[in-house]
This record gives sequence, structure tokens and C-alpha cells, in this order.
Amino acid sequence: MLELVDVGKSYPAPGDTAGVRVLKDITLKVEKGQSLVIVGPSGSGKSTLLNIIGALDRPTHGHVLFDGKDLAGLDEIELARIRNKEIGFVFQLHHLLPQCTVLENVLVPTLADKNRPSTKEFSERAKSLLERVGLRDFMLYRPGELSGGQRQRVAVVRALINSPKLLLADEPTGSLDKDASENIADLLIELNRSEQVTLIVVTHSLKLAEQMGQVMELNDGLLESRSGT
Ligand SMILES: Nc1ncnc2c1ncn2[C@@H]1O[C@H](COP(=O)(O)OP(=O)(O)OP(=O)(O)O)[C@@H](O)[C@H]1O
Ligand SMILES: [Mg+2]
Repeated sequence: MLELVDVGKSYPAPGDTAGVRVLKDITLKVEKGQSLVIVGPSGSGKSTLLNIIGALDRPTHGHVLFDGKDLAGLDEIELARIRNKEIGFVFQLHHLLPQCTVLENVLVPTLADKNRPSTKEFSERAKSLLERVGLRDFMLYRPGELSGGQRQRVAVVRALINSPKLLLADEPTGSLDKDASENIADLLIELNRSEQVTLIVVTHSLKLAEQMGQVMELNDGLLESRSGT
């Protein structure tokens, strides 16, 4: 469902016309329902890679194929549709809207689609997902009234509300303590299995890495399989 072919990314560097090559020829195939962890030192390009996979950024060269479609050939409207409906994002900092309730935050991604099913249908899905992550009693709270781990669980539910095929998570447990991290890790793994959502996670959490199907390491701009963690 996702394929990267010789993907590279360079950023212009001050005083250096060649620029800095953050990613070199990265080739990767991810099948439906697969789970993949990407590890690597700070600055190795993990976020850059995830942003390219999620159509938030474009590679300098190479191709990203989503369901066989080359993202480079799509216009902004089609890209926006894919970002909104086919892909869910969870970032290190959750970016919840502070003035909205938990339930309202979860429903934000459903507002963009003019042809969407009824609000009631989404609202039911939101409630059942919130219940699954243990937030049934917090639906009318605002983010400021939740713990860091609870907020991150809301962000996971929001990412899943449109039933994406692909869930991308960049350090989803980065700002949490050990217990809260394990909680999020368990949740992502459980959702990967039960919702058959393809999962790509950038993480430093060993627990998450251990439980995921495949661990790859980004180093020197190259992505390599890593056995055992
Ligand atoms: N918009 C940009 N312009 C110029 N350079 C950038 C830009 N975004 C990222 N970089 C550079 O690309 C490199 C990789 O950054 P990236 O954020 O992908 O790393 P990372 O592996 O996610 O690191 P971390 O673990 O700290 O989050 C860094 O050296 C960074 O300076
Ligand atoms: Mg990063």
C-alpha cells in the first residue's frame, strides 16, 4: 500500500551550494496492516521521512507511491484529501484545540469532508474509540484538564476518526513518563491489530519497538533493517 522508491531529501545549507542530504536513496515497501518502527539518532531525518510519507513534504528526488498512486502526480486538493481521509497523524506534541472539549477535538478532522456521513455516525465512532482508550468519562473535559498521557490518547483517537489506512506517529510517547508511554504503546499495537491500520512509528520507546513487526534504523540518510532491540 505504501512504497518509497529512491527517495532523497536535501536542504539548502548556508554557504554550501550542494545543500545537506538528509535522506539518501530510501527504498521501502509497507504492506496493509503492517507495523513498522523507525529509530535513529536525533537529526538523522526521521521526522523528515515521516512528513514525506504523509504527504506533508515532498522529496527532492524519488517517488512515494500510496496505493500505487505517485504522490508527485497529485494536485493539492487530492493531496489534502489523502492527508485528511487516508492518513492519520499523531505528533509528539498533540496539538489539541484548548477551547474545545475532548469529543469536539476528536471530531475536527471530520469537518473538512462535505460529503461526510452524518455527524451522529461520527459522534458514535468517536465515543466508542474514546471508551476504548479509557476516556469515556472525560469526553466533555478540555485538554487543559487532562494529563499528558490522556491528551496523547485523545490525539490518537482524533487520528483514527476518519478510519485511515495509514497511521503515522512521530515520537507519540516522547513527552510522557514510562507508564503513560507504555499505555500509548499498547494502544497503538492494539489498534494496529484490531483496526488493521498500517502503522509507522518513530520512537525511542524500546517497549514499542519490541512489540512492532519490524524495526528499521535511519543512519547517515540510509534506512536499514535492524534485528532485535
Ligand atoms: N525545513 C528545514 N530546512 C533545513 N533543514 C532542515 C529542515 N527540516 C529539517 N532539517 C534538517 O534535517 C535534519 C533532519 O531533521 P529531522 O527533524 O528529520 O530529524 P529527526 O531524526 O526527526 O530528529 P529528532 O530525533 O531530533 O526529532 C536536521 O539536520 C535538520 O537540521
Ligand atoms: Mg523528529
